[in-house]
Amino acid sequence: MINVLKIKKDFPIFENNPSLVYLDSTATSLKPRPVIEKLVEYYSKYSANIFRGVYSLSEKATKEYEKTREKIAKFINGKKEEIIFTRNTTEGLNLLAYSLGRKIIEKNDEIVTTIMEHHSNFVPWQILAQESGAVFKVININQSGDLDLYCKNIKIKKSKCKMTMQNSKLINLNNIITKKTKILTLTYISNVLGTVNPIKEIVMVAKKINPKVIVIVDAAQAAPHKKIDVLDLGVDFLAFSSHKMLGPTGVGVLWGKYDLLCEMFPFNFGGEMIAEVFLDKTFFKDPPYKFEAGTPAIAEVIALSEAVSYLEKIGLEKIEAYEKELVQLAYQRLKEEFGKNIKILGEGNIKERSGILAFNFYNLHPHDVAQILSEKNICLRSGHHCAQPLHQFLGVSSSCRASFYFYNDKDDVEKLVEGLKEVKIKFKL
Ligand SMILES: Cc1ncc(COP(=O)(O)O)c(C=O)c1O
Repeated sequence: MINVLKIKKDFPIFENNPSLVYLDSTATSLKPRPVIEKLVEYYSKYSANIFRGVYSLSEKATKEYEKTREKIAKFINGKKEEIIFTRNTTEGLNLLAYSLGRKIIEKNDEIVTTIMEHHSNFVPWQILAQESGAVFKVININQSGDLDLYCKNIKIKKSKCKMTMQNSKLINLNNIITKKTKILTLTYISNVLGTVNPIKEIVMVAKKINPKVIVIVDAAQAAPHKKIDVLDLGVDFLAFSSHKMLGPTGVGVLWGKYDLLCEMFPFNFGGEMIAEVFLDKTFFKDPPYKFEAGTPAIAEVIALSEAVSYLEKIGLEKIEAYEKELVQLAYQRLKEEFGKNIKILGEGNIKERSGILAFNFYNLHPHDVAQILSEKNICLRSGHHCAQPLHQFLGVSSSCRASFYFYNDKDDVEKLVEGLKEVKIKFKL
């Protein structure tokens, strides 16, 4: 069982804002005390640059920094030398578009992505395709809000198909992945629909059609909520952000298969990523260091380790199951109270989705709804959530988004319902 009252005590923000209803963890999560304390510990006890000093403070900082690398490697079942610290998911994905994409993509090659991507996993590949003359293919979604991967050309009843959705035999990528596809890049969990994509099955089917296809996963919304095992998933690269999983801002993680990392050219050049520099040439260090030029976010990387410990202490399986229940309850309560006047994006996948509910309320502008809720200290996001292609596909320009984490509970759901009732009254609906 998740004890939310006990958990809330670990997050100082609730002490300072007792009435806070925080429903925007998809944008960034709140931070527990051990993470905040670890930041203070670094700055007050061993605040020195890493790798550069032979004095003990620097050695201590380096040790702590590398400890996080080991911890993250274990967290996702990768190897230490495959973990690159970036600024965030966005930087990890851009690094790949430059260092990998610009190396392997040629005219008429195919880059495949999906309509449900965050801009940070859409625009870098769209630009790369435009620059290189590659074909940019976008997988659509069906009415349920799932990727349109199932049952095409397979004679099976739709209901049967739904029950066994994770069965890779039902995933049909024949029209999507071809021998010309070099990169398939997709999100694990949609930051708008909450859809959890069957990554393992997609990888299996895609690599069967074309064993050379490189699969990249945007795990920004998965790492905070779901156990990830990169080997089991069979992916080639995976990126996520510390700040969405209880850690500090300014740090991201890019994991990649070591052989592929070795073949890639660095993204940034500068301090600590070089082996030797001569007047006419430069030799780089091995991965991961060749991708970590300049002084990194030392304190933040060190404190990320505490975030991972906190998540592991509660257990990601428990977190995932709890959020699934909470989001279903929220869906049910919102529907009970507002019926057709609340339109949930991707309504069909409600039983399978992660803790995210994007919706439109009557015909109100999402900013107006969010503004009124904010007066009651209810924080949720309004806008396109950096997923404009998806909103365009769904025929709406924007939406409100309530997102739930393990520090939310039924009370938060009720407060959201009450808040929306007030919105209704204010607009005389
Ligand atoms: C699915 C997804 N991908 C990528 C990002 C970008 O994350 P960041 O801003 O930390 O780089 C987000 C942020 O909301 C996201 O939800």
